[in-house]
Amino acid sequence: MTANNRTVSGMRPTGPLHIGHYFGALKNWIDMQNDYEAFFFVADWHALTSNYADTSKLPQYVRDMVVDWMSAGLDPEKCAIYRQSDIRETAELHLLLSMITPLGWLERCPTYKEQQQQITDKDLGNYGFLGYPVLMTADIIQHRPRWVPVGQDQQPHLELAREIVRRFNGMYDTQVFPEPEARLTPAAKCPGLDGRKMSKSYGNGIFLQDTLEELTPKVKTMFTDPARLRKSDPGNPDVCNLFPYHKLLASPEVQAEVREGCTGATMGCVNCKKMFLQNLQTFLEPLHERRAAILAKPGLVDEVLAAGRERAAKSVKETMELVRAAMHMD
Ligand code: TRP
Ligand code: SF4
Repeated sequence: MTANNRTVSGMRPTGPLHIGHYFGALKNWIDMQNDYEAFFFVADWHALTSNYADTSKLPQYVRDMVVDWMSAGLDPEKCAIYRQSDIRETAELHLLLSMITPLGWLERCPTYKEQQQQITDKDLGNYGFLGYPVLMTADIIQHRPRWVPVGQDQQPHLELAREIVRRFNGMYDTQVFPEPEARLTPAAKCPGLDGRKMSKSYGNGIFLQDTLEELTPKVKTMFTDPARLRKSDPGNPDVCNLFPYHKLLASPEVQAEVREGCTGATMGCVNCKKMFLQNLQTFLEPLHERRAAILAKPGLVDEVLAAGRERAAKSVKETMELVRAAMHMD
């Protein structure tokens, strides 16, 4: 295939995005949209693999996700933003790929085994759930991209996608698909308010749409160095939940100042939190301004999704013609 700089990624719409989503994925997308031909989609079919029973909130989650993305700086002029289920050919490609994907590859997938064990409040013994990485492969390779920006947790899925590509190309003696490469997002530590992983279901998140009124009490309740009870106790920023955020939001000089003040017991946690809240507010302000501007235009999200759909459809159409020809299905 010709050298390309196409890139594809998606996110499951499961509710408002938190700051962990931003530093763990979205920031990378926003950087990449300038230099790559980028396709970013809302993975509503993937949301069904574990939340198939009640789908009533899905339409709202899809739209909210687009608003969150654009507020954060994803620009529909620079990249295609679309909804996964708007491209029906993805389902066709998924079906074709499912024929050549050995069950063992899917059963051995570490994310499959993990989630089967961890998620106990719903039945995941479904065909669709097992096929999650095959659908993800279709999402990706339908655009024949070079790069897939993902977090570390998605690496096994990318490996599977590459294996499926090799098998397809080999079996049908074609070069239709280049092997997609993971473009790993540099790990950003964003612990939840209580120190556990930030997650909507734990109720410990800082959301991109949180206002100052919502943020203030949240920051107050954040766990800091548990051994530091008073300001006169020297603290350790490396065991504190708040310090990782200074690393993301504060200048290197301020970080050094905090470290010194904390370990030297000259700066208290209350003050430190004040600084964090200030930095958070500064970081979120432009996002909130963009959000207000987006919400002021009621038809905008639909327009963006329609334009993205058109761009995605064109790219996928080309691929599917090659795929059908390679499989004598044209
Ligand atoms: N599995 C990804 C996640 O949970 C979402 C996703 C679906 C995706 N299809 C994709 C990511 C294709 C990258 C490319 O985060
Ligand atoms: Fe954490 Fe800051 Fe308190 Fe140190 S001063 S323990 S870095 S909140």
